[in-house]
Amino acid sequence: MTNPDNAVSSTASLADLLVEDLPFDASSEACLRSPYYFYEKIRTQSGPIHRTPSGSVLVLGYHEAASVLRDERFGHGAQKAGEATNYGVPARSFLLTDPPGHTIQRHRARHPFTARHVERLRPRIAAKVDSLVAGAVRAGHTDVVADIARPLASEVMAELIGVPERLRPRFERNAQLLVRGMDPPGLIDAATRRAIARARFALAQDIAGLLGPDTGHTTGLPTVLTEAGPDRTSRAEAIATCAQLIAAGYETSVGLIGNGLHALLSHPRELDQLAATGPSEQAVEKAVEELLRIDPPIQVAPRSALVSADIGGVTIEPGTIVLVMLGAANRDPMVFPDPHRLDLARRPRHLAFGLGAHFCLGAALARLEATLALTAVIRHRPQALDKVVTYSAGRIARTVGSLRVSLQGPHALQAGANLRPMGKGAP
Ligand code: HEM
Repeated sequence: MTNPDNAVSSTASLADLLVEDLPFDASSEACLRSPYYFYEKIRTQSGPIHRTPSGSVLVLGYHEAASVLRDERFGHGAQKAGEATNYGVPARSFLLTDPPGHTIQRHRARHPFTARHVERLRPRIAAKVDSLVAGAVRAGHTDVVADIARPLASEVMAELIGVPERLRPRFERNAQLLVRGMDPPGLIDAATRRAIARARFALAQDIAGLLGPDTGHTTGLPTVLTEAGPDRTSRAEAIATCAQLIAAGYETSVGLIGNGLHALLSHPRELDQLAATGPSEQAVEKAVEELLRIDPPIQVAPRSALVSADIGGVTIEPGTIVLVMLGAANRDPMVFPDPHRLDLARRPRHLAFGLGAHFCLGAALARLEATLALTAVIRHRPQALDKVVTYSAGRIARTVGSLRVSLQGPHALQAGANLRPMGKGAP
């Protein structure tokens, strides 16, 4: 039942909200290390729905979050044109559009994400993982984020889009910068903003160069998108789609591998149990779901109320920004008992990939990448070299910045002297 006294509306922009209006200091060291303590504090005070002073809404409860994500009364209408650039995604991005336009654009971009296509990438991903991990084992230590997760995610993305070998180093540099652009401009210094703009332009040019009959890149995504029969997109749309796939899929894949291994190193018993399975790829594949639950690389799914709508008895006026706090929903104690504990026996129905119309298109690919990378790394008994790790300062994405570990030969099965077990609220 709706209580009319609870009706809220807001005129704050998403950027203002993320920078100034959150009920915690998202850039503080404590919050960067673990926002989960803050989520829990807000949940304890306000329940599953929290209103900020400017009238925006944070959704922290699992069921409430799931129903907003499934509900087409919450979309992106109000932020479409102006704020799209804040995400570093071109304005045409279907990440930020609503049905029916969204449905059409998503349908056109689905080709590379079918189970068959993802499976076809498996040998390439496995080969890349093998070579990266072999290099790290030879050195005896590695930064899993910089030396394994980033080159892997970049290779997969380049493979997907069909970027030739010679362009890949530049592609990787630009892709990293594009992802920085996901944050509100207020959080990025002027020089970095300029670098992001240049990277966006260079990426668009490179992708455009892959299009057309003379290039020979007939299997790359840009060409596939422009030649997909009645579904085919315009050249500009194909470029925008590729750029948004990079923005949506690069840092997130890095995050799953980095955050996931960090969570395991913080829970040595679970890591040992997993390692004791071989580790088997099937066991790691299942574990990845719990890793996605406990420390998801995307923490927030922003929406706007397109019409007046209810969540959990609160009426939301049209135009109000609604932040679906995926990281908080994934630790809702009503759904996940003892939510701060990594428990690989769980089969969690987490919200790390979102839900509903915008459910992550790259979920199968991200799962495969993380499963293969983590299986290979865990096989070599990783032990953390730093007591504390730093996370990126993003508001939407959350990624371990660096994760240095030592690696051993395949048969060294000793109990890990890993990061201290983390308590409540820790990743
Ligand atoms: C662990 C890795 C990943 C995570 C945690 C993740 C998370 C998400 C989330 C939460 C959404 C929904 C956003 C919303 O509802 O506002 C989303 C959408 C999306 N993701 Fe991912 N993602 C990952 C990897 C990827 C990859 C590898 C790709 C592509 C190569 C990708 C492409 C997309 C696209 C295109 C959408 C938009 C779908 C739509 O709007 O219909 N993601 N992702």
